[in-house]
Amino acid sequence: MKKLGLISAAALMASGVAAWADEISLVCSAEQDWCDQMVGLFEAENPDTEVLMVRKSTGETLAQVRAEAGNPKIDVWWGGTGDPHLIAAEEGLTQASGVDTSELLGWAQNMAEISNGRAVGIYAGALGIAYNADILTEKGIAPPECWADLEDPRFEGEIQVANPNSSGTAYTELATFVQLFGEDEAMVKLAAVGNNVNSYTKSGSAPSKAAARGETGVSIGFMHDMVNLASQGFPLKVVAPCEGTGYEVGAVSIIEGARNLEGAKKWVEFALRADIQSQAKDVKQFQVPSNSNAEVAPESPDLASIKLIDYDFATYGSSDTRSRLLARWDAEVGDPNPEQ
Ligand code: F6P
Repeated sequence: MKKLGLISAAALMASGVAAWADEISLVCSAEQDWCDQMVGLFEAENPDTEVLMVRKSTGETLAQVRAEAGNPKIDVWWGGTGDPHLIAAEEGLTQASGVDTSELLGWAQNMAEISNGRAVGIYAGALGIAYNADILTEKGIAPPECWADLEDPRFEGEIQVANPNSSGTAYTELATFVQLFGEDEAMVKLAAVGNNVNSYTKSGSAPSKAAARGETGVSIGFMHDMVNLASQGFPLKVVAPCEGTGYEVGAVSIIEGARNLEGAKKWVEFALRADIQSQAKDVKQFQVPSNSNAEVAPESPDLASIKLIDYDFATYGSSDTRSRLLARWDAEVGDPNPEQ
């Protein structure tokens, strides 16, 4: 109620008038700590605006945006892997923000180009494998070095990964396998890895948190999330798979029909600023920032030193491709116990 000045909050509420001059409804698909930091920084700069934020995984957010088409409850979607943002753009569920992208790195501008300005890149990060060194040593299991190792029976019941229907991270993994091995072979390999999976989580960072706590030996996820946990002292080791790996470009999009379009644009401009992106590291978010003038944390995995595939965002960020791959994943790999 700090922003009400002399007007009584009770009187305003009784009259049905919102207590804040301005509200932005935001879905955040990054980590909770970063979502909270961003909302705090934005509200500090814009004291008359309240940001109503919920955290949701990328695939879940796409499902919400689709379900609310024509009557959206969200103004702006910040964070999460780029593919579902590109799909929302293709389906006309988001709109161009018209922001200046000239300070952004090439991969972030590329996202804007593919989506006709509807999705803009905010960070990048590579996919990898993590293992709990204590657990593998205790069990006498040799650590993985390659994706192919994860098919080995020595990892039976030891691997955790997210479900690609809900998680952008796991969809990036699915698309990475398809780009590395071809679609049919990718399904065979994912099913073989699946034989060693103890559970498929909703959120992409949950498996590495479980590995950090010793609840599973191995996780698949983004390396920056693994580095975050290792930097907190957990016995987590990060592996760049020998065959090469995929990466994400995290994005921000304004929802078509946003009730607070001006507020949403303000958020996008804010989220692309170098001084704002530079503060992600203060809450241990180690993605590579998209603004070329933002500070890169020393902990951030160096993308140039990782064997990255030439991830095809136009193809894997298209509606048809994602629907086909998810249907095949459900049929040929599948989650025996989907989380509700
Ligand atoms: O913030 C952590 C993070 O790994 C982001 O880099 C990524 O965009 C997001 O999570 C994906 O989350 P999910 O897999 O739950 O959709």
